[in-house]
Amino acid sequence: MTSLEQDIKQQIRDLCRQKNAVVMAHYYQRAEVQSVADFVGDSLALAQQAQKTDADIIVMCGVHFMAETAAILCPERKVLIPDASAGCSLADSCQAADLRAWKAQHPDHLVVSYVNTSAEVKALSDIVVTSGNALKIVNRLPQDAKILFGPDRNLGRYINERTGRKMDLWNGCCHVHDRFSAENLVQLKQQYPQALVLAHPECRKEIVDQSDVVGSTAVLIQYVKEHPDGQYIVMTADGVDYEIYQSCPNAHLINTDNACEYMHKHTLESVLACLQNEAPVVTVDAQTAMKATLPIHRMLDWSK
Ligand code: 13P
Ligand code: SF4
Repeated sequence: MTSLEQDIKQQIRDLCRQKNAVVMAHYYQRAEVQSVADFVGDSLALAQQAQKTDADIIVMCGVHFMAETAAILCPERKVLIPDASAGCSLADSCQAADLRAWKAQHPDHLVVSYVNTSAEVKALSDIVVTSGNALKIVNRLPQDAKILFGPDRNLGRYINERTGRKMDLWNGCCHVHDRFSAENLVQLKQQYPQALVLAHPECRKEIVDQSDVVGSTAVLIQYVKEHPDGQYIVMTADGVDYEIYQSCPNAHLINTDNACEYMHKHTLESVLACLQNEAPVVTVDAQTAMKATLPIHRMLDWSK
């Protein structure tokens, strides 16, 4: 770590203390951003942590929908995002108008939305899921329920396969997970025959079917923590390696070199500027927040 980096980190920590602020970071953040955070987690844990924090300010080092979820759960807190252009290709793949039209064509269906959606899409949903709780939540829905699931076709297909449901799927995807090449994975497996493959369910079927462990970022990290001396091919976005090597220095991760450009928008400099300026602030209009809070709370209750 350079002395400049050390100095910025110190300033961030000092400002957090002075302003009663917390820095929350997703596992896909740059290592230096994760290292300065008060809390690092997957999207479910970030929502749970936001719900229980007593800080006045939350600096959300994740993508925009994660900051929106925190703003909905904590209307009395100021939620900041270091770089306001940190969007999500998956959330963008289904707009509220799209979902409204889809619902109108299927008025008797329940709407299950992935957390990677805008607040407006959540407001139109019956329940929200993350990759960490999707199977549990969908399994709890009535067996005969007709379900619309969006926006991730890969996660939706995976849930259908694991639960035996026949949810109708929106045709969206995450460009980061969808671009993993199945041929490249075959080659890596030949090169590292001892390695286990860890995959996020946002990956395509050809990847998931070749994997040993499928789950949210937290599930994949936990697996390595429980088997810390193994060799792993990691089929998710860069960043999880930071958390893994913190507690499992002997793990051997085979790098697939696939960063989420949106997650990597945040830097130590932008985290510091965001705390100094208390901007950009992420807000959700009251009416949308009121409607979106119900499916998010339902998810948090059902995840317990
Ligand atoms: P997790 O819920 O596993 O943290 O995933 C979030 C995400 O954006 C995956 O691309
Ligand atoms: Fe969105 Fe994909 Fe980035 Fe996750 S990895 S935040 S789904 S673009």
